[in-house]
Amino acid sequence: MHRERIRTDGGVETTTDPWTETRTDLDGQVALVAGGTDGIGKATATRLAELGATTVVVGSTPERGHEAVEAIVEESNNDAVEYVQADFSLMSEIRQLAEEFRGNYDRLDALVHTAGILPYEREMTEEGIERSFAINYLSRFLLTNLLVDMLEDGGPTGVVNVAAAGANSVELLDLDDLSSERFFTDPEEGDHMTRGQNALDQAQVANDIFGLELADRVEGTGVSSTVIHPGAVDTDIRMKADDGWRQVDEMLRSEMDVVPPELVAETVVPLATVTNPSEINGKFFQTGRQVVEFQDGVRDPELRQDLWEKSAELSGLADED
Ligand SMILES: NC(=O)c1ccc[n+]([C@@H]2O[C@H](COP(=O)([O-])OP(=O)(O)OC[C@H]3O[C@@H](n4cnc5c(N)ncnc54)[C@H](OP(=O)(O)O)[C@@H]3O)[C@@H](O)[C@H]2O)c1
Repeated sequence: MHRERIRTDGGVETTTDPWTETRTDLDGQVALVAGGTDGIGKATATRLAELGATTVVVGSTPERGHEAVEAIVEESNNDAVEYVQADFSLMSEIRQLAEEFRGNYDRLDALVHTAGILPYEREMTEEGIERSFAINYLSRFLLTNLLVDMLEDGGPTGVVNVAAAGANSVELLDLDDLSSERFFTDPEEGDHMTRGQNALDQAQVANDIFGLELADRVEGTGVSSTVIHPGAVDTDIRMKADDGWRQVDEMLRSEMDVVPPELVAETVVPLATVTNPSEINGKFFQTGRQVVEFQDGVRDPELRQDLWEKSAELSGLADED
């Protein structure tokens, strides 16, 4: 296999790692894209539908969801696209989604997590969880756990977490303050324009640790778990937040080339459809199919176990075991 060492501008050590084979005819297969109604998720869902998969997209805003289905069907020429509404800030809705999915489909071949928001106001849900942490991380943990047996029953199958693979230090995660009560905004940043940065970092690091721990737990079952950092992408995610995040959007667009979501999907879809899951299981990627070396702390078995237990408790999964 050809491997090439590359140093990116950020100094992150990466390798290009072309996968030997991916499934390119997804006829008869089922893909679930959590957050598939906009941005990276919509581009990913479109590509999966183009390849023939029955594609289920989930989001919280029905109007956006129905528009997305129409656009995906038209672009992919595949009618088998379904929208399911669920608010990922609530674990009760994740449970309902998983139950509904099991009722409607007898297989799951690809599970892609792209649902996310940029936090700017600290808000607790009625279930006692900080809202952005629930949407950006905990919903992914619970949904994956509730459907993992379906992924294992088939195979090869893939779980892909679109987050910030390896970009943030594990020290940003405070297991005693997952709801960011102490620091919602990064204390080092003072009056930085992006309020909620600390809450966002916590969720992204949690996704890294979860992706790696899941990889260990599914190794050898025909399932792969990968995490990808998409880079700065041309989506509306920052415009949907507050003025601070909108300024970041302006800055990013003036200073660098933001990546089209379709380009990110070109890495996400192969990760979700690789024929040999152990080839990529537990790896972190960037857009462009480069493998990213992750921070050592992510491997810490105690941290991984502690986060898993806290997540199971917070999401209610522990009560179901
Ligand atoms: N764009 C970037 O530059 C960038 C960079 C690094 C990482 N990422 C990560 O990549 C992921 C996708 O980002 P994106 O730019 O594609 O975002 P986006 O275009 O804003 O799409 C976000 C998706 O998440 C769904 N969503 C948001 N809140 C939800 C909720 N409460 N319940 C259910 N679904 C919800 C949205 O649907 P509804 O609005 O209908 O709820 C939409 O489908 C995020 O996790 C983000 O943090 C993005």
